[in-house]
Amino acid sequence: MNNRIQGTTSLVALLGYPIEHSKSPAMHNTAFEALGLDYVYLAFGIKKDLLKQGLDAMRALNAIGFNITMPHKEEVVGLLDEITEEARIIGSVNSVKNKDGKLIGYNTDGKGFVKALQEAEIDFQGKKIVILGAGGAARAVAIQLAYDGASEIVIFNRTLSKAQEITNTINNNISTTKAIAIGLDEQMLKEELKDSAVLVNCTSLGMKSNIDQSIVTTSDTLHEDLFVADIVYDPPKTRLLSIAEGVGCKTMNGLRMLIWQGAIAFKIWTGKDMPIDLIF
Ligand code: ATR
Repeated sequence: MNNRIQGTTSLVALLGYPIEHSKSPAMHNTAFEALGLDYVYLAFGIKKDLLKQGLDAMRALNAIGFNITMPHKEEVVGLLDEITEEARIIGSVNSVKNKDGKLIGYNTDGKGFVKALQEAEIDFQGKKIVILGAGGAARAVAIQLAYDGASEIVIFNRTLSKAQEITNTINNNISTTKAIAIGLDEQMLKEELKDSAVLVNCTSLGMKSNIDQSIVTTSDTLHEDLFVADIVYDPPKTRLLSIAEGVGCKTMNGLRMLIWQGAIAFKIWTGKDMPIDLIF
């Protein structure tokens, strides 16, 4: 018998619905195994009305920690014992540590994006960044970039009020960043990009369900000094990234953000660095 899961093995989990396609179990179990950590990561499909019971289960099973994904990231905020200031301002939690029955919430999505930018050696301190989209991912990315030193953030979104909610949050909480919301308009986007360092797509355009779609439709909108990031990682090269490459921009897809948000959670749970070169 040769099975690393024994009576001593502790649980780390993912709570969400649906969860079948999550890459987190493979990522964390690969890392636990590589480091010889006696943990196992399991995904549990928990529907909306069962979140509270799911959290109680995590306490009862003495899980080391867990990830929270759709549809629970916002609702969980009110059910935890403590959350970090960033997670509170972002208004969502994707990672929780169980400290002797006390559940502490973190948001590692925005931090994962920032880490991926730093890894690509993109200096965004004191710079202007343009974000496309105003959903949960855009909110985490925009607020973390503001916390970490972007001087100006411009958010373009189809639904202007959702972009305004995020820019109001930034303007009311992070005095070092000026944030502006604008409705979708490619000509205005081109104008705003002229003095920007980074463009980030946080809309779902370009994903498999919306493949070949992009808010940027012409290379004329971009310039070669712009770093263009897409949080979509499947397909690895979205239409936006193809257009950007054609202009000569440096680009990054969403895979490094995905890995880093996991690696930051891994460190919170285990105190150890995830061996990210082994992942994917
Ligand atoms: P997530 O939580 O993963 O960020 P989301 O909340 O569904 O996902 O956000 C998706 C984003 O893509 C939103 O900004 C959405 O715009 P709206 O706020 O106007 O809904 C944007 N989006 C999705 N489909 C779009 C489309 N066809 N054109 C423009 N924007 C689109």
